[in-house]
Amino acid sequence: MTAPLFQLDDVHISTADGVEIVRGVDLTVAAGEVHALMGPNGCGKSTLASALAGSPDYEITSGNVRLHGDDIIDWDPDVRAKAGVFLAFQYPQAIPGVSVRNFLQQAVQARTGKDVSTIEIYMSLSEWMEKLGMDTAFMDRFLNEGFSGGEKKRNEILQLALLEPEIAILDETDSGLDIDALRIVAEGVQAVRESQTGMGVLAITHYQRLLDYLRPDHVHIMLDGRIVQSGGMELVEEIEARGFDSFGATT
Ligand SMILES: Nc1ncnc2c1ncn2[C@@H]1O[C@H](COP(=O)(O)OP(=O)(O)O)[C@@H](O)[C@H]1O
Ligand SMILES: [Mg+2]
Repeated sequence: MTAPLFQLDDVHISTADGVEIVRGVDLTVAAGEVHALMGPNGCGKSTLASALAGSPDYEITSGNVRLHGDDIIDWDPDVRAKAGVFLAFQYPQAIPGVSVRNFLQQAVQARTGKDVSTIEIYMSLSEWMEKLGMDTAFMDRFLNEGFSGGEKKRNEILQLALLEPEIAILDETDSGLDIDALRIVAEGVQAVRESQTGMGVLAITHYQRLLDYLRPDHVHIMLDGRIVQSGGMELVEEIEARGFDSFGATT
């Protein structure tokens, strides 16, 4: 039997000050699956996402996080990224003088451990931009400098497409995406899934709207640092109708 793509087993996460935020999360994402993690503000969604990507702000104090069976908890963030753990929507601020194209070239080199020529990046970027209906002039913009919300999302989707992650963790901002940005993200994620069918997706969101497009295979409700219920799209409808309160905290 092969190990699942990505598996969390009783994961506990604390802040640097020792405050426990995530209090025992189990989750298994098989190759090609889309999982949604939903929960109210402050329940620990972004903490989980950041800690999985290796943020130094958090410590995974117990439990296991396995990628294809390998425990990644002791791996540095760059090693996790190289192995294919991708966290979206948490990008650096503007980097002066670095274009989208330069940035992606470096990111692809870091992911693959190989030199990638300027031409190769140009070719794959052009192909993806055409597929996603983007203007190729965008690749020469300076990273995040004056980007609109939609342009930030486009940049993130291009990263997703070029980096070909094993597991893509998408953390929607708490303010939510406007309708254009939402469409860019949803269509982009679906296009990348079509070209890379084994990729797992963990879509973290406060809202149901993104999930109406993404149609996750599994939906998990997080309250107060724990997953209190898992199911399918019917849970999303239940949240929409009754809110998170109906799921009750299990403290
Ligand atoms: N670095 C930190 N130091 C102290 N408290 C934190 C830190 N990060 C998150 N928290 C707290 O942990 C809780 C969960 O935050 P977060 O993971 O951002 O929730 P969500 O993404 O579900 O809205 C909140 O109460 C937040 O204030
Ligand atoms: Mg959050």
